[in-house]
Amino acid sequence: TIHPILLCGGSGTRLWPLSRKSYPKQFARLMGDDSLFQASARRLSGDGFAAPMVLTGEPFRFIVTEQLAQIEQAAAGIVIEPEGRNTAPAILAAALWMIRKDPAALMLVAPSDHVIPDEAGFRATVQAAVPRALAGDLVTFGIAPNRPETGYGYLELAAGADPKASEPQSLARFVEKPDAGRAAEMLAAGNFLWNAGIFLFTAEAAVAAYRDHSPALVAAVEKALDEASEDLGFTRLAPGPWAEAEDISIDYAIMEKSTNLAVMPYSGDWSDLGGWDAVWMESGPDAAGNVCSEHATAIDCNDTLLRSESSAVELVGIGLEDIVAIAMPDAVLVAHKSQAQKVKEAVSALKAKG
Ligand code: GDD
Ligand code: MG
Repeated sequence: TIHPILLCGGSGTRLWPLSRKSYPKQFARLMGDDSLFQASARRLSGDGFAAPMVLTGEPFRFIVTEQLAQIEQAAAGIVIEPEGRNTAPAILAAALWMIRKDPAALMLVAPSDHVIPDEAGFRATVQAAVPRALAGDLVTFGIAPNRPETGYGYLELAAGADPKASEPQSLARFVEKPDAGRAAEMLAAGNFLWNAGIFLFTAEAAVAAYRDHSPALVAAVEKALDEASEDLGFTRLAPGPWAEAEDISIDYAIMEKSTNLAVMPYSGDWSDLGGWDAVWMESGPDAAGNVCSEHATAIDCNDTLLRSESSAVELVGIGLEDIVAIAMPDAVLVAHKSQAQKVKEAVSALKAKG
């Protein structure tokens, strides 16, 4: 069995105003009837998958229990991080928890905010990667890149490896979030895949990698787990030791430094919904290129996203081109689609205003 480890502690600021500090994008119904978190839990359930372990922050714990109940999914555990310290400490906490039960346990670490429509195809890809993970490698999942994106990690295939293979391939290197020049070079080189941000490894392989590359992190997180408190079904990591854990992602802390890396290519549709431009694209624009939610109407518009998140707000666009407009009961975003990534800056500016 594979143990899904669902990460849902991120804040998702690039999808403001739908994504909020107290209700980040992974819990919102962005596509379809399930939230992204529910879709992630469902995708990694069924034959061959154990109940998921969920890692999240204090403010989201009841959203997690409520959304799991809605899809009738039990959790193997819900671990609460006293504060967000990024993915490296969170994944290590899960690995240390797992290794105490079964060192050979397979962990599938997955973000909770991605769109992967072909559930069965994705599960088959995960299963095909199992032998490699059982052999002790850290297996990543690779997506064929189509633009010089700087927000992703890049996976350099080892000499002779096939980026379209249907079994795991060896990796030469992991390069997290390159600058624009480096990203363009890697795209042109042809022997790189994007890191999907999904990892498969045994608990002991993960912990060994942390011991090799981040021993201080292991000390802090071990203590936070030893001193954790149990309450109402939540495992709350101890705040004191947790505050000592470095705030760093697994990509920088472990992946860039490891040599026992493999990649399982995934050729299905995948998106990390990193901004409103991506939501527009993934929502299946109509013949004019528009995407309109309920309570939104486009007249003479092209390539435009109009979303009203409230039945009390009618949103109308006339003569728009390449615009995203998102109406919430208490906030409205209007932006050019090509600059949708700057929403992050808007959120910082609003925060500064108080
Ligand atoms: N529990 C918990 N705690 N989850 C967290 C935390 C935390 O402190 N920080 C982030 N997460 C969750 C996010 O909610 C998301 O589901 C996942 O971990 C990844 O974090 P992101 O912050 O979204 O990472 P990223 O998108 O910048 O980069 C990662 O994903 C890319 C693909 O989407 C990297 O792995 C890249 O290499 C990769 O290409
Ligand atoms: Mg992400």
